[in-house]
Amino acid sequence: MKTMKMLSACLLLLPFISCTQVQDTENDAVIEQKIETLLSRMTLEEKIGQMNQISSYGNIEDMSGLIKKGEVGSILNEVDPVRVNALQRVAMEESRLGIPLLMARDVIHGFKTIFPIPLGQAASFNPQVAEDGARVAAVEASAAGIRWTFAPMIDVARDPRWGRMAEGCGEDTYLTSVMGAAMVKGFQGDSLNHPTSIAACPKHFVGYGAAEGGRDYNSTFIPERRLRNVYLPPFEAAAKAGAATFMTSFNDNDGAPSTGNTFILKDVLRGEWGFDGIVVSDWASVAEMIAHGFAADSKEAAMKAVNAGVDMEMVSYTFVKELPGLIKEGKVKKSAIDDAVRNILRIKFRLGLFDNPYVDEKWIEELYAPSHLEAAKQAAVESAILLKNEKETLPLQSSVKTVAVVGPMANAPYDQLGTWIFDGDKTKTVTPLKAIKELVGDKVQVIYEPGLTYSRDKNMVGVAKAAAAAARADVILAFVGEEAILSGEAHCLADLNLQGAQSELIAALAKTGKPVVTVVMAGRPLTIGKEVELSSAVLYSFHPGTMGGPALADLLWGKAVPSGKTPVTFPKMVGQIPVYYAHNSSGRPATRNEVLLNDIPLEAGQTSLGCTSFYMDAGFDPLYSFGYGLSYTTFKYDNVKLSSANLKKEDVLTVTFDLENTGKYEGTEVAQLYVQDKFASVTRPVRELKRFARVTLKPGEKKNVSFELPISELAFWNIDMVKTVEAGDFALWVAPDSQSGEEVFFKVVD
Ligand code: GLC
Repeated sequence: MKTMKMLSACLLLLPFISCTQVQDTENDAVIEQKIETLLSRMTLEEKIGQMNQISSYGNIEDMSGLIKKGEVGSILNEVDPVRVNALQRVAMEESRLGIPLLMARDVIHGFKTIFPIPLGQAASFNPQVAEDGARVAAVEASAAGIRWTFAPMIDVARDPRWGRMAEGCGEDTYLTSVMGAAMVKGFQGDSLNHPTSIAACPKHFVGYGAAEGGRDYNSTFIPERRLRNVYLPPFEAAAKAGAATFMTSFNDNDGAPSTGNTFILKDVLRGEWGFDGIVVSDWASVAEMIAHGFAADSKEAAMKAVNAGVDMEMVSYTFVKELPGLIKEGKVKKSAIDDAVRNILRIKFRLGLFDNPYVDEKWIEELYAPSHLEAAKQAAVESAILLKNEKETLPLQSSVKTVAVVGPMANAPYDQLGTWIFDGDKTKTVTPLKAIKELVGDKVQVIYEPGLTYSRDKNMVGVAKAAAAAARADVILAFVGEEAILSGEAHCLADLNLQGAQSELIAALAKTGKPVVTVVMAGRPLTIGKEVELSSAVLYSFHPGTMGGPALADLLWGKAVPSGKTPVTFPKMVGQIPVYYAHNSSGRPATRNEVLLNDIPLEAGQTSLGCTSFYMDAGFDPLYSFGYGLSYTTFKYDNVKLSSANLKKEDVLTVTFDLENTGKYEGTEVAQLYVQDKFASVTRPVRELKRFARVTLKPGEKKNVSFELPISELAFWNIDMVKTVEAGDFALWVAPDSQSGEEVFFKVVD
């Protein structure tokens, strides 16, 4: 059997080449020379002006005045290419030194062609999806004059109450690292100075996803070891993939706001990783250090931010206002200003802005190109997760002559796009209703009765109407979930049940006795256990974007086969949070045989013997674990073999296994490799994802698949706060998700 080396996308991580190596060394030297020449000609005010970013407020004359004075280095939120060129012309021709502006915009999962939200893209476990999405976004955004985006968002997030989980790649360090590096590559292309390349900005540096209580902007308490083992690696991968800029996060970690945190901004980012690009604050996060109680006033805020290593201030203007005085008082060194301006000029030179500052104003032609829409559809297909499929309800067969399309998300062109779609156009969205009619309307009767008009709608009259209509169908397709605004920044929830009367709607539909296929479009995992029980099949599609409709229609009728896997754990109920697969064992791990709440006898005696870690009312396991997802076909894992059972730290472990399609549809399986360090100087997670690969197989086809895992990648920050591989016993699993697979042992020897 031909061994197929899975050049799995995770090779993106190996071997890292740093951003400076990516740049042609000769070119770098020339750029450094240009920076020094320009810096020597700049006044202190002009230097500080480069460190100032404003948000476009429409008044071109006003903004031109600031630019002429040399008070602006970057503008965000201006997306009209004509206006971008007008502002740029002022900088190039009317300011004293003609330094181009850096035009920026949040392009998180598409500019005009909207891809699935990043959490959805992560569900594809396909970095090519992430890279393609970022590339399309860069082509469209750069056509509008944007050359810097504030993405990828690579905050590891393990609390779905946090609305911003939607913007990231989920709970896993490795998956987030691979997807984040791919997005950097997509945004920045092969060379930063290509006109369609836009500077990436991994954010939010760092630990923002661990906001206490899942409440946005809240404090985090992440000790250094967990920071280094869980939250920093995706940013290191992004830096080594050549990310041109970084953004500081709003949170204070153990009392230090990231925007004033020298340890992460200087010691780690610059000192350990060799990052030489721009560090930009988040929106007003410099001034917000006053509200944090970390700075007494804007002067102290500006001082702490610059001295910690922030190069550019987003919109709060304390740098322009306070730095001249701080320098006079010796509280901020001139060298700190020069270093910040060097970083800013370096990226402007690398982007080629000095030579090509203007955008071709015929931008409209780039948007919604057929290839862009096709890529967005393919991303939505691969992002969908089949959670349940009783009696092979799906794919729908030709025997289905009438379908009822029901629910508030069946025809919601705006909400289907998800959060952070500043420039998305809902009129371009193809909804499931539209797509289903186009796909099968000529041979299947489509009854449409939304029941509810939006996800928070509580109108029970509509529910009864929908149930009555649905009773006439062979199969009911219920599209539920969240309006776009219910996830994203500052949109956190303390209850993750379906909003409004959606749960009542599903119950009413189930009462008809007809099979209910529930399709969820949301920005996070929801606690849908009840609705899953009532449904014959469940497809989960994290806000799938412009082409979500055609993708879902193809999946429902079997033109495509689901392959997505959960990038986050789905809790049974909010009370289980935080719940994630890469947890520590504890000294009393759950056995899954615990006596649950309703089985406890009356007057049961208290004992501490034989107790384990679980919830009486929820057990231990979540609704769905990380990495879970079904297909229309079935797969068999077999014959797992290791290249050796005893490996040295410099060795590479090769794991091979047979994967067979034992069903009747061609399908793609995301095979996953997990490792556990059984005993170490600190407690280690019960499993950690180390490799994954998408393997497509025809019915009956079997392939021998292999993963290459350098033992060096088992390194972690240990009890001495040293990153190292500790010799000892390890276990590994090759599996379809984070809970399955046969445990195989190996040793690392000194
Ligand atoms: C927001 C977000 C950040 C975004 C920035 C600019 O508050 O936190 O992710 O890039 O401001 O819009």
